[in-house]
Parts: sequence; structure tokens; C-alpha cells
Amino acid sequence: MRVLLLGGGGREHALALRLADDPSVEALFAAPGNPGIAGVAELRAVDPVDPVAVAGLAVEVSADLVVIGPEAPLVAGVADAVRAKGIAVFGPSAEAARLEGSKTFAKEVMTAAGVPTARAYTCTDEASTAAALDRFDPPYVVKNDGLAAGKGVVVTDDRAVAEAHARECGRVVIEEYLSGPEVSLFVVTDGETAVPLLPAQDFKRVGDDDSGPNTGGMGAYAPLSWAPADLVDDVMRDVVHPTLTEMRRRGTPFAGLLYVGLAITADGPRVIEFNARFGDPETQVVLALLETPLGGLLHAAASGSLVDHPPLRWRAGAAVTVVVAAEGYPAGPRTGDVITGGEQPGVIHAGTARRATDGALLSAGGRVLCGTATGPDLAAARDAAYQVVRGVTLSGSHYRRDIAAAAVDGRIALPG
Ligand code: AMP
Ligand code: GLY
Repeated sequence: MRVLLLGGGGREHALALRLADDPSVEALFAAPGNPGIAGVAELRAVDPVDPVAVAGLAVEVSADLVVIGPEAPLVAGVADAVRAKGIAVFGPSAEAARLEGSKTFAKEVMTAAGVPTARAYTCTDEASTAAALDRFDPPYVVKNDGLAAGKGVVVTDDRAVAEAHARECGRVVIEEYLSGPEVSLFVVTDGETAVPLLPAQDFKRVGDDDSGPNTGGMGAYAPLSWAPADLVDDVMRDVVHPTLTEMRRRGTPFAGLLYVGLAITADGPRVIEFNARFGDPETQVVLALLETPLGGLLHAAASGSLVDHPPLRWRAGAAVTVVVAAEGYPAGPRTGDVITGGEQPGVIHAGTARRATDGALLSAGGRVLCGTATGPDLAAARDAAYQVVRGVTLSGSHYRRDIAAAAVDGRIALPG
């Protein structure tokens, strides 16, 4: 089959590597892609949030499958436009992508479906914000209601900071603080059948020991040796299937990748958020362990035939990825610096670009690249991932030193 992959971050580089090594994928195109993706796909220029342009490109390259990486094109209706051309697309409709695009909508669906999540109030002014904050003890959780690339959430003990974030966003969701280790579970679905991938853990804060502001994600690992044995079964039964049923009942079935962000609380798993696409950087580790050819799996989901797909096969061992971020990330990343070591095996490109004059690799975004590695166990994978990162130089860059450290040391405790 001929595949067009939309996007150009680390997640898309990881997707591209696995699509390229699927024997059923005979041609791989990526738009806009990045210098890493260029090693395995033919790059095309397109405005990823222009539905007409993307559908036109899919026709032009005779795509049998379009895989949409980021959330913005989904919310903009790109999947709908491609599907209207009769081309299979992995990614939900704009209506269904509201599970990610609107926190209020996601809460409505969860409430209707009886999905366990934090109690929450949507607030649009100072009075309703104050009333909502009164209902909770600190830490306060204040979320921008729209898409915010992982940076719209403030978790703080300081009521003034919570109120200031609410004022800045305009429309926010204020919710109960969920205490417990976080898990990201990716589920591939055609709207009816749902296939879970391996649970992973992401590191959202910029600094070691979860210090500093939230980011898009600074590292990840899988599998989770400390997770309850029945976690995936419980989440499929209590979260995923009720949500998919509710979306079908509304006439807007969710097909694509349902990303369930969970906290494992003393009362069991609780949903922190839904996303409508693969997570970044969790995808880098989950796909590093997937043995089943990716193109066939995503095509089955995109064409409603997931029920006939064979069970997934996983490599033994573990995978770790460590994000190298630009100076100033997340507040104001500096770009345009020269990167060395960016061609090593295990480097997944995110915000990189080639200098036109000499082809040098430059930083071009906040999260610049990640060092990803597998190993027979988590400690070995972690050592290997840091080895990759130490082989990269980028002036002013920073990375967390503690990715997967607590799990390796057996320091993650389940509450209750
Ligand atoms: P979100 O954009 O909803 O994923 O939130 C980003 C991060 O903020 C999450 O990964 C959590 O670390 C934190 N967070 C969000 N909601 C809550 C909550 N209700 N309780 C505790 N932490 C939260
Ligand atoms: N890793 C968090 C996200 O993709 O939203």
C-alpha cells in the first residue's frame, strides 16, 4: 500500500520508521516531515491544517492510507476531507476529535458514559472561577478548554496563580486533583473494535523530580513493571468501551487512536484526559516494542476491519526515550543552533531542520530530538537511551536526567 503520513514531529518520525519497515508499505510519503523522516519517506510540502490541500495531496500521491499524526489537523477536519475522497484515513473526524479539542466536551462524554474521572466545572468568568476553586482543596487544577499543545494546564497550590491562569485562558475547566502515578494508554480503534497498545509513562514537567512547568513531554518508557496486572483490562472495560459506545450513540463514532491519560489513584484508574492521536514522546517507546507491522494495523482500523486483525506481538524487554529540548524551552525556545550527532541510530527527530546552504542540521523547535533505545530490561534501555543523548551536542540544550529512574529503582508506589 501507499501511505501518506501527516506531521513532522518526533511522534511522526517514530511512526515513519515503523511504517517504512512494514513489508506491505510499498511507498511512504510524509508532509511536511522533518530531516529524520526524510531518511525513510519522500517529503511533500503541505499546510497540515488545510483539509482541501491535504486531501488533494493524498489523491496526488495515490495514497491507500493517510495517517494523521498531530491533533490540529484532526480538529480542523482533515480526516473528513480525506475520507470524502474515498481514501482510508487513520484519525478521527472533526466531531470525534472534540474528545481532545474541548475538555468540556470530553467531560460531557465521560459523564454520559459513566467513565471515572476528576469532578470538574467549566468556568468563563471570575465569579464562576472563584466558586469552582472554593469547591476544591489545593493543589488546584486549571485547564485551558481548547487545544494547548500540552501546555494549557496549571497545577498549583497558589490560588492567585490558579485565578491568573483562568483569567488568561478565558474559558477553563477547573477540576479535582488526582493523586497517583500517571499512565498513558494508547488504543487503536475502528470505532467498534478496540486494541490496546502497551501502557507507557510520560514525564510532563521540564525538570528532574517533576519540577518546573508542564511541557509537551520530556521522556517516556514502556512497559510499566509496577502497573496493576489488570490495569489494561479494567481501563478497556470501564473507560474505552463505554466512551466508544457513547460516541457511536451520538452518531460520531471515534475511529483512530484514543489516547487515555490516567492517574492510578487510591480509588483506581481515573481519566486525566483524552487525546485523539498518538502521544509524543510515548509513541517513540511503544512503537519501538511493537513487532506487528504498523501499516497493516492502522489500515485495519482505518477501514473498519480491526475485528479480523491478528493479536499484536510485542518484543521482550523495555524501551526508553529522552527528549533533548532547546535552550529556553518551554517558555521561549531558541532555534537555529547547529546539532551534531543527530544522525546516530536511536535519534528521533522532532524540531530539526536542514540549513539550505550546507545541509547542516539545526534546531527548529522546542523539543528538538529524542534519544530512543530498547534493551533486555528497563535499566539497560535507559542506559542505552542516555548513551544516544550524550552523543548529541546542541548549544544551550537540556534534558531530564531522571527519565525512567524511579521505575528502574522500584520507587513507584501505588496509592491505597
Ligand atoms: P492534560 O493536558 O489534561 O494532560 O494535563 C497535563 C498534565 O497536568 C497531566 O499529565 C498531569 O500531570 C497534570 N494534570 C492534569 N489534570 C490533573 C488532575 N486532575 N489531577 C492531577 N494532575 C493533573
Ligand atoms: N505526551 C503527551 C501528549 O502527547 O500529549
